[in-house]
Amino acid sequence: MADIIRSVRGMNDILPDVTPYWQAVETTLNDVLRSYGYQEIRFPIVEKTALFCRSIGEVTDIVEKEMYSFDDRNGESLTLRPEGTAGCVRAAMQNGLLNQTQRLWYQGPMFRYERPQKGRYRQFHQIGVEAYGFKGPDIDAEMILMTARLWKQLGLRGLKLQINSLGSTEARLLYKAKLIDYFELHRDQLDEDSQRRLHSNPLRILDSKNPEMQALNDGAPMLLDHLDKESEQDFNALCEALDSVGLIYEINPRLVRGLDYYGKTVFEWVTEHLGSQGTVCAGGRYDGLVSQLGGKAATAIGFAIGLERLISLLEAMDALPKIETIDAYIVAVGDKAVREALLLAERLRDEVPGLKLITHCGGGNFKSQFKHADRSGARWSLILGDDEINNKVIGVKTMATGEQETVSWDVLANYLQS
Ligand code: HAM
Repeated sequence: MADIIRSVRGMNDILPDVTPYWQAVETTLNDVLRSYGYQEIRFPIVEKTALFCRSIGEVTDIVEKEMYSFDDRNGESLTLRPEGTAGCVRAAMQNGLLNQTQRLWYQGPMFRYERPQKGRYRQFHQIGVEAYGFKGPDIDAEMILMTARLWKQLGLRGLKLQINSLGSTEARLLYKAKLIDYFELHRDQLDEDSQRRLHSNPLRILDSKNPEMQALNDGAPMLLDHLDKESEQDFNALCEALDSVGLIYEINPRLVRGLDYYGKTVFEWVTEHLGSQGTVCAGGRYDGLVSQLGGKAATAIGFAIGLERLISLLEAMDALPKIETIDAYIVAVGDKAVREALLLAERLRDEVPGLKLITHCGGGNFKSQFKHADRSGARWSLILGDDEINNKVIGVKTMATGEQETVSWDVLANYLQS
Protein backbone atom coordinates (compact mmCIF):
# COMPACT_ATOMS: atom_id res chain seq x y z
CA MET A 1 0.00 0.00 0.00
CA ALA A 2 1.23 3.48 -0.76
CA ASP A 3 2.42 5.55 2.22
CA ILE A 4 -0.34 7.61 3.77
CA ILE A 5 0.38 11.29 3.41
CA ARG A 6 0.15 12.85 6.84
CA SER A 7 -0.48 16.45 7.88
CA VAL A 8 2.38 18.93 8.21
CA ARG A 9 4.06 18.83 11.64
CA GLY A 10 2.50 21.37 13.99
CA MET A 11 -0.61 21.75 11.81
CA ASN A 12 -3.56 19.98 13.35
CA ASP A 13 -6.92 18.69 12.25
CA ILE A 14 -9.77 19.85 14.44
CA LEU A 15 -12.13 16.90 14.52
CA PRO A 16 -15.94 16.80 14.66
CA ASP A 17 -16.04 15.81 18.33
CA VAL A 18 -14.23 19.07 19.16
CA THR A 19 -15.54 21.55 16.58
CA PRO A 20 -18.80 22.11 18.50
CA TYR A 21 -16.72 23.55 21.36
CA TRP A 22 -14.86 25.80 18.95
CA GLN A 23 -18.11 27.00 17.43
CA ALA A 24 -19.68 27.68 20.82
CA VAL A 25 -16.60 29.59 22.03
CA GLU A 26 -16.36 31.58 18.79
CA THR A 27 -20.05 32.48 18.98
CA THR A 28 -19.70 33.71 22.56
CA LEU A 29 -16.63 35.77 21.69
CA ASN A 30 -18.22 37.21 18.56
CA ASP A 31 -21.37 38.16 20.49
CA VAL A 32 -19.37 40.05 23.12
CA LEU A 33 -17.28 41.85 20.47
CA ARG A 34 -20.42 42.85 18.60
CA SER A 35 -21.96 44.12 21.83
CA TYR A 36 -19.06 46.62 22.05
CA GLY A 37 -19.64 47.76 18.47
CA TYR A 38 -16.84 45.77 16.82
CA GLN A 39 -17.37 44.74 13.19
CA GLU A 40 -15.84 41.79 11.43
CA ILE A 41 -13.21 42.27 8.72
CA ARG A 42 -11.85 39.47 6.53
CA PHE A 43 -8.53 39.77 4.73
CA PRO A 44 -6.25 37.31 2.91
CA ILE A 45 -4.15 34.64 4.58
CA VAL A 46 -1.30 35.45 2.21
CA GLU A 47 0.32 38.89 1.99
CA LYS A 48 3.47 40.33 0.49
CA THR A 49 6.45 39.38 2.68
CA ALA A 50 7.53 43.01 2.98
CA LEU A 51 4.35 43.81 4.91
CA PHE A 52 5.36 41.56 7.79
CA CYS A 53 9.05 42.53 7.70
CA ARG A 54 8.15 46.21 7.91
CA SER A 55 5.52 45.87 10.63
CA ILE A 56 6.59 43.04 12.93
CA GLY A 57 10.25 44.08 12.67
CA GLU A 58 13.32 42.59 10.98
CA VAL A 59 14.95 41.58 14.28
CA THR A 60 12.13 39.52 15.76
CA ASP A 61 11.83 35.75 16.10
CA ILE A 62 8.85 35.79 13.73
CA VAL A 63 10.59 37.56 10.85
CA GLU A 64 14.02 36.06 11.44
CA LYS A 65 13.04 32.43 11.59
CA GLU A 66 9.33 31.68 11.72
CA MET A 67 7.71 32.91 8.52
CA TYR A 68 6.35 30.62 5.84
CA SER A 69 7.58 32.60 2.86
CA PHE A 70 7.69 31.50 -0.74
CA ASP A 71 8.11 32.98 -4.17
CA ASP A 72 4.93 33.31 -6.18
CA ARG A 73 5.14 32.10 -9.80
CA ASN A 74 6.00 35.65 -10.83
CA GLY A 75 8.96 35.72 -8.44
CA GLU A 76 7.33 37.94 -5.82
CA SER A 77 7.93 36.93 -2.19
CA LEU A 78 4.71 36.12 -0.34
CA THR A 79 4.14 34.95 3.24
CA LEU A 80 1.43 33.03 5.07
CA ARG A 81 0.30 35.51 7.70
CA PRO A 82 2.04 34.88 11.05
CA GLU A 83 -0.41 37.24 12.76
CA GLY A 84 -3.36 39.47 11.85
CA THR A 85 -2.44 43.01 12.83
CA ALA A 86 -0.28 43.77 9.78
CA GLY A 87 -2.89 42.48 7.32
CA CYS A 88 -5.67 44.30 9.15
CA VAL A 89 -3.80 47.63 8.98
CA ARG A 90 -2.99 47.01 5.32
CA ALA A 91 -6.63 46.25 4.50
CA ALA A 92 -7.98 49.18 6.52
CA MET A 93 -5.49 51.58 4.88
CA GLN A 94 -6.00 50.31 1.35
CA ASN A 95 -9.79 50.54 1.63
CA GLY A 96 -9.94 53.99 3.16
CA LEU A 97 -11.31 52.79 6.51
CA LEU A 98 -8.86 54.89 8.49
CA ASN A 99 -10.55 58.17 7.60
CA GLN A 100 -12.72 57.58 10.63
CA THR A 101 -12.53 55.57 13.84
CA GLN A 102 -12.93 51.84 13.48
CA ARG A 103 -13.53 48.92 15.83
CA LEU A 104 -12.68 45.73 13.93
CA TRP A 105 -12.28 42.02 14.63
CA TYR A 106 -11.16 39.02 12.60
CA GLN A 107 -10.54 35.37 13.10
CA GLY A 108 -8.68 32.62 11.34
CA PRO A 109 -5.50 30.62 11.00
CA MET A 110 -2.01 32.07 11.47
CA PHE A 111 1.27 30.36 10.56
CA ARG A 112 4.61 30.37 12.36
CA TYR A 113 7.46 27.93 11.95
CA GLU A 114 7.93 27.40 15.69
CA ARG A 115 9.04 24.25 17.50
CA PRO A 116 5.72 22.46 18.02
CA GLN A 117 4.71 21.56 21.58
CA LYS A 118 1.51 21.66 23.62
CA GLY A 119 -0.01 25.09 23.07
CA ARG A 120 2.43 26.04 20.33
CA TYR A 121 1.66 25.07 16.77
CA ARG A 122 2.73 25.97 13.25
CA GLN A 123 -0.84 26.60 12.22
CA PHE A 124 -2.90 28.08 15.03
CA HIS A 125 -6.02 30.20 15.25
CA GLN A 126 -6.60 33.66 16.61
CA ILE A 127 -9.50 35.96 17.19
CA GLY A 128 -7.98 39.39 16.80
CA VAL A 129 -9.38 42.81 17.64
CA GLU A 130 -8.12 46.19 16.43
CA ALA A 131 -9.37 49.72 17.12
CA TYR A 132 -8.16 52.65 14.98
CA GLY A 133 -8.26 56.36 15.50
CA PHE A 134 -8.69 56.40 19.29
CA LYS A 135 -5.96 58.22 21.17
CA GLY A 136 -6.58 56.47 24.46
CA PRO A 137 -6.26 55.66 27.26
CA ASP A 138 -10.08 55.31 27.43
CA ILE A 139 -10.13 52.76 24.60
CA ASP A 140 -7.19 50.93 26.22
CA ALA A 141 -9.29 50.52 29.36
CA GLU A 142 -12.43 49.59 27.43
CA MET A 143 -10.55 46.98 25.44
CA ILE A 144 -9.08 45.39 28.54
CA LEU A 145 -12.49 45.40 30.23
CA MET A 146 -13.90 43.76 27.13
CA THR A 147 -11.35 40.94 27.39
CA ALA A 148 -12.34 40.47 31.04
CA ARG A 149 -15.96 40.23 29.92
CA LEU A 150 -15.01 37.61 27.33
CA TRP A 151 -13.63 35.36 30.10
CA LYS A 152 -16.67 36.07 32.28
CA GLN A 153 -19.04 35.20 29.45
CA LEU A 154 -17.17 31.94 28.88
CA GLY A 155 -17.31 31.12 32.59
CA LEU A 156 -13.52 31.08 32.64
CA ARG A 157 -11.43 31.54 35.74
CA GLY A 158 -7.67 31.18 36.01
CA LEU A 159 -6.45 34.05 33.83
CA LYS A 160 -4.34 36.87 35.21
CA LEU A 161 -3.91 40.27 33.63
CA GLN A 162 -0.45 41.79 33.25
CA ILE A 163 0.07 45.30 31.94
CA ASN A 164 2.98 47.56 31.15
CA SER A 165 3.80 50.69 29.20
CA LEU A 166 6.51 50.78 26.56
CA GLY A 167 6.43 54.58 26.34
CA SER A 168 6.82 56.73 23.24
CA THR A 169 9.30 55.90 20.48
CA GLU A 170 11.59 58.71 21.68
CA ALA A 171 11.49 57.57 25.31
CA ARG A 172 12.18 54.02 24.20
CA LEU A 173 15.18 55.13 22.17
CA LEU A 174 16.71 56.90 25.17
CA TYR A 175 15.95 53.89 27.35
CA LYS A 176 17.44 51.53 24.75
CA ALA A 177 20.72 53.40 24.95
CA LYS A 178 20.72 53.03 28.75
CA LEU A 179 19.92 49.35 28.43
CA ILE A 180 22.72 48.79 25.93
CA ASP A 181 25.17 50.53 28.29
CA TYR A 182 24.05 48.26 31.12
CA PHE A 183 24.32 45.05 29.10
CA GLU A 184 27.67 46.13 27.61
CA LEU A 185 29.02 46.27 31.16
CA HIS A 186 27.95 42.63 31.62
CA ARG A 187 28.58 41.39 28.11
CA ASP A 188 30.24 38.18 29.30
CA GLN A 189 26.96 37.15 30.99
CA LEU A 190 24.81 37.50 27.86
CA ASP A 191 23.71 34.30 26.14
CA GLU A 192 24.12 33.91 22.38
CA ASP A 193 20.66 35.23 21.48
CA SER A 194 21.07 38.26 23.72
CA GLN A 195 24.54 39.06 22.31
CA ARG A 196 23.01 39.09 18.86
CA ARG A 197 20.16 41.35 19.99
CA LEU A 198 22.26 43.68 22.10
CA HIS A 199 22.31 46.50 19.58
CA SER A 200 19.39 45.63 17.33
CA ASN A 201 16.65 44.79 19.86
CA PRO A 202 17.90 45.05 23.45
CA LEU A 203 14.37 45.19 24.91
CA ARG A 204 13.81 41.62 23.85
CA ILE A 205 16.74 40.54 26.05
CA LEU A 206 14.57 41.48 29.01
CA ASP A 207 11.99 38.82 28.31
CA SER A 208 14.53 36.07 27.73
CA LYS A 209 13.26 32.74 29.04
CA ASN A 210 16.83 31.65 29.87
CA PRO A 211 17.01 31.26 33.69
CA GLU A 212 20.70 32.15 33.59
CA MET A 213 19.79 35.58 32.28
CA GLN A 214 17.34 36.21 35.10
CA ALA A 215 19.63 37.85 37.65
CA LEU A 216 21.20 40.08 35.01
CA ASN A 217 17.76 41.13 33.74
CA ASP A 218 16.54 41.80 37.28
CA GLY A 219 19.28 44.37 37.72
CA ALA A 220 18.61 46.15 34.41
CA PRO A 221 17.10 49.64 34.34
CA MET A 222 13.31 49.63 34.00
CA LEU A 223 11.46 51.18 31.08
CA LEU A 224 8.63 52.20 33.42
CA ASP A 225 11.12 54.50 35.18
CA HIS A 226 12.00 56.15 31.86
CA LEU A 227 8.60 56.91 30.39
CA ASP A 228 7.80 60.22 28.68
CA LYS A 229 5.21 62.41 30.42
CA GLU A 230 2.29 61.52 28.16
CA SER A 231 2.85 57.76 28.38
CA GLU A 232 3.19 58.02 32.14
CA GLN A 233 -0.06 59.98 32.44
CA ASP A 234 -1.88 57.57 30.12
CA PHE A 235 -0.59 54.56 31.99
CA ASN A 236 -1.69 56.03 35.33
CA ALA A 237 -5.11 56.84 33.88
CA LEU A 238 -5.41 53.27 32.58
CA CYS A 239 -4.53 51.86 36.01
CA GLU A 240 -7.07 54.18 37.64
CA ALA A 241 -9.79 53.09 35.20
CA LEU A 242 -9.07 49.41 35.90
CA ASP A 243 -8.96 50.10 39.64
CA SER A 244 -12.28 51.92 39.53
CA VAL A 245 -14.06 48.82 38.22
CA GLY A 246 -12.10 46.52 40.53
CA LEU A 247 -10.31 44.64 37.75
CA ILE A 248 -7.24 43.01 39.26
CA TYR A 249 -3.98 43.34 37.34
CA GLU A 250 -0.27 43.09 37.84
CA ILE A 251 2.16 45.68 36.48
CA ASN A 252 4.88 43.63 34.84
CA PRO A 253 7.77 45.95 33.92
CA ARG A 254 9.39 43.09 31.97
CA LEU A 255 6.45 42.71 29.61
CA VAL A 256 7.87 43.87 26.25
CA ARG A 257 6.04 41.68 23.63
CA GLY A 258 7.72 39.94 20.73
CA LEU A 259 6.61 42.22 17.90
CA ASP A 260 8.28 45.56 17.26
CA TYR A 261 5.23 47.70 16.50
CA TYR A 262 4.12 48.28 20.09
CA GLY A 263 4.43 51.48 22.12
CA LYS A 264 2.72 52.69 25.31
CA THR A 265 0.11 50.24 26.69
CA VAL A 266 0.83 46.51 26.37
CA PHE A 267 -1.02 43.70 28.13
CA GLU A 268 -1.28 39.94 28.37
CA TRP A 269 -3.67 37.50 30.00
CA VAL A 270 -1.67 34.57 31.33
CA THR A 271 -2.43 31.33 33.14
CA GLU A 272 -0.39 28.82 35.13
CA HIS A 273 -2.67 26.01 33.99
CA LEU A 274 -1.18 25.49 30.54
CA GLY A 275 2.49 24.90 31.29
CA SER A 276 5.04 26.99 29.44
CA GLN A 277 2.60 28.30 26.78
CA GLY A 278 0.50 30.24 29.25
CA THR A 279 -0.29 33.44 27.33
CA VAL A 280 -3.85 33.13 26.07
CA CYS A 281 -4.43 36.72 24.96
CA ALA A 282 -1.98 39.49 24.19
CA GLY A 283 -1.85 42.91 22.65
CA GLY A 284 -1.21 46.58 23.03
CA ARG A 285 -1.03 49.98 21.43
CA TYR A 286 0.79 50.46 18.11
CA ASP A 287 0.29 54.11 17.16
CA GLY A 288 3.32 54.19 14.85
CA LEU A 289 2.46 51.31 12.55
CA VAL A 290 0.03 52.96 10.14
CA SER A 291 2.47 55.72 9.19
CA GLN A 292 5.33 53.21 9.15
CA LEU A 293 3.39 51.32 6.48
CA GLY A 294 2.94 54.49 4.46
CA GLY A 295 -0.48 55.65 5.69
CA LYS A 296 -1.54 58.90 7.29
CA ALA A 297 -0.73 58.58 10.99
CA ALA A 298 -3.55 56.87 12.92
CA THR A 299 -3.56 55.68 16.49
CA ALA A 300 -4.18 51.99 17.00
CA ILE A 301 -4.58 49.36 19.68
CA GLY A 302 -5.52 45.69 19.60
CA PHE A 303 -5.07 42.20 20.89
CA ALA A 304 -5.38 38.60 19.78
CA ILE A 305 -6.55 35.48 21.56
CA GLY A 306 -4.95 32.11 20.79
CA LEU A 307 -7.95 29.86 20.34
CA GLU A 308 -6.13 26.54 20.85
CA ARG A 309 -4.87 27.82 24.20
CA LEU A 310 -8.24 29.24 25.17
CA ILE A 311 -9.98 25.93 24.46
CA SER A 312 -7.27 23.97 26.33
CA LEU A 313 -7.70 26.26 29.30
CA LEU A 314 -11.48 25.87 29.26
CA GLU A 315 -10.92 22.11 29.23
CA ALA A 316 -8.36 22.27 32.04
CA MET A 317 -10.75 24.37 34.14
CA ASP A 318 -13.66 22.06 33.38
CA ALA A 319 -15.48 24.96 31.74
CA LEU A 320 -16.01 23.78 28.16
CA PRO A 321 -19.38 25.07 26.95
CA LYS A 322 -22.36 22.76 26.89
CA ILE A 323 -22.86 21.62 23.33
CA GLU A 324 -26.12 20.86 21.64
CA THR A 325 -26.92 17.25 20.94
CA ILE A 326 -29.09 15.66 18.27
CA ASP A 327 -32.79 15.71 19.12
CA ALA A 328 -34.07 12.83 17.05
CA TYR A 329 -32.94 10.06 14.70
CA ILE A 330 -35.40 8.60 12.20
CA VAL A 331 -35.19 4.86 11.73
CA ALA A 332 -37.03 3.65 8.64
CA VAL A 333 -37.18 0.16 7.15
CA GLY A 334 -38.66 -0.62 3.74
CA ASP A 335 -38.73 1.45 0.51
CA LYS A 336 -42.01 3.13 1.34
CA ALA A 337 -40.86 4.02 4.86
CA VAL A 338 -37.57 5.47 3.56
CA ARG A 339 -39.46 7.74 1.16
CA GLU A 340 -41.94 8.74 3.84
CA ALA A 341 -39.12 9.38 6.36
CA LEU A 342 -37.52 11.96 4.06
CA LEU A 343 -40.82 13.81 3.65
CA LEU A 344 -41.68 13.64 7.32
CA ALA A 345 -38.21 14.93 8.26
CA GLU A 346 -38.53 17.93 5.93
CA ARG A 347 -41.95 18.74 7.40
CA LEU A 348 -40.63 18.52 10.95
CA ARG A 349 -37.73 20.83 10.07
CA ASP A 350 -40.27 23.35 8.77
CA GLU A 351 -42.48 23.08 11.81
CA VAL A 352 -39.89 22.88 14.62
CA PRO A 353 -37.28 25.61 14.15
CA GLY A 354 -33.85 24.60 15.42
CA LEU A 355 -34.72 20.90 15.49
CA LYS A 356 -31.64 18.71 15.09
CA LEU A 357 -32.82 15.67 13.23
CA ILE A 358 -30.93 12.90 11.46
CA THR A 359 -32.68 10.66 8.95
CA HIS A 360 -31.05 7.28 8.64
CA CYS A 361 -29.53 6.82 5.18
CA GLY A 362 -27.95 3.74 3.68
CA GLY A 363 -30.50 1.05 4.53
CA GLY A 364 -30.11 -1.79 7.03
CA ASN A 365 -32.52 -3.59 9.35
CA PHE A 366 -34.03 -2.10 12.52
CA LYS A 367 -31.23 -3.48 14.73
CA SER A 368 -28.42 -1.92 12.73
CA GLN A 369 -30.29 1.38 12.35
CA PHE A 370 -30.86 1.54 16.12
CA LYS A 371 -27.13 1.16 16.62
CA HIS A 372 -26.60 4.29 14.52
CA ALA A 373 -29.35 6.07 16.45
CA ASP A 374 -27.65 5.17 19.71
CA ARG A 375 -24.24 6.37 18.51
CA SER A 376 -25.69 9.68 17.31
CA GLY A 377 -26.53 10.60 20.92
CA ALA A 378 -30.09 11.48 19.88
CA ARG A 379 -32.68 11.94 22.59
CA TRP A 380 -35.37 10.10 20.63
CA SER A 381 -35.52 7.50 17.89
CA LEU A 382 -38.46 7.98 15.55
CA ILE A 383 -39.45 4.62 14.10
CA LEU A 384 -41.20 4.16 10.77
CA GLY A 385 -42.24 0.84 9.24
CA ASP A 386 -45.13 -0.27 7.02
CA ASP A 387 -47.60 -0.48 9.93
CA GLU A 388 -46.81 3.03 11.10
CA ILE A 389 -47.23 4.41 7.60
CA ASN A 390 -50.57 2.71 7.14
CA ASN A 391 -51.82 4.23 10.41
CA LYS A 392 -50.09 7.63 9.93
CA VAL A 393 -48.27 7.27 13.25
CA ILE A 394 -44.66 6.95 14.34
CA GLY A 395 -42.94 5.09 17.17
CA VAL A 396 -41.12 7.47 19.53
CA LYS A 397 -38.47 5.79 21.66
CA THR A 398 -36.81 7.78 24.45
CA MET A 399 -33.24 6.56 24.17
CA ALA A 400 -32.28 7.15 27.80
CA THR A 401 -35.08 4.99 29.24
CA GLY A 402 -35.98 2.72 26.34
CA GLU A 403 -39.66 3.71 26.78
CA GLN A 404 -41.64 3.76 23.57
CA GLU A 405 -44.95 5.28 22.61
CA THR A 406 -46.93 5.77 19.44
CA VAL A 407 -47.55 9.32 18.28
CA SER A 408 -49.78 10.45 15.42
CA TRP A 409 -48.08 12.41 12.60
CA ASP A 410 -50.42 15.36 13.24
CA VAL A 411 -49.11 16.01 16.72
CA LEU A 412 -45.52 14.85 16.27
CA ALA A 413 -44.16 18.40 15.84
CA ASN A 414 -45.86 19.48 19.08
CA TYR A 415 -44.56 16.40 20.84
CA LEU A 416 -40.95 17.09 19.82
CA GLN A 417 -41.27 20.77 20.69
CA SER A 418 -42.43 19.96 24.19
P1 HAM B 1 1.08 37.37 19.71
O1 HAM B 1 1.46 37.59 21.14
O2 HAM B 1 2.18 36.99 18.79
O3 HAM B 1 0.39 38.70 19.24
O4 HAM B 1 -0.05 36.28 19.61
C1 HAM B 1 -1.27 36.41 20.30
C2 HAM B 1 -1.70 35.08 20.87
O5 HAM B 1 -1.75 34.08 19.85
C3 HAM B 1 -0.73 34.50 21.89
O6 HAM B 1 -0.92 35.06 23.17
C4 HAM B 1 -1.11 33.04 21.87
O7 HAM B 1 -2.27 32.81 22.64
C5 HAM B 1 -1.44 32.81 20.41
N1 HAM B 1 -0.28 32.22 19.71
C6 HAM B 1 0.79 32.86 19.22
N2 HAM B 1 1.64 31.98 18.64
C7 HAM B 1 1.08 30.77 18.76
C8 HAM B 1 1.45 29.43 18.35
N3 HAM B 1 2.58 29.20 17.67
N4 HAM B 1 0.63 28.42 18.66
C9 HAM B 1 -0.53 28.64 19.34
N5 HAM B 1 -0.94 29.86 19.73
C10 HAM B 1 -0.14 30.91 19.45
C11 HAM B 1 -0.11 38.89 17.99
O8 HAM B 1 -0.24 38.04 17.16
C12 HAM B 1 -0.58 40.31 17.76
N6 HAM B 1 -1.01 40.44 16.36
C13 HAM B 1 -1.72 40.64 18.72
C14 HAM B 1 -2.23 42.02 18.51
C15 HAM B 1 -3.35 42.39 17.83
N7 HAM B 1 -1.65 43.14 18.93
C16 HAM B 1 -2.35 44.18 18.54
N8 HAM B 1 -3.39 43.72 17.87
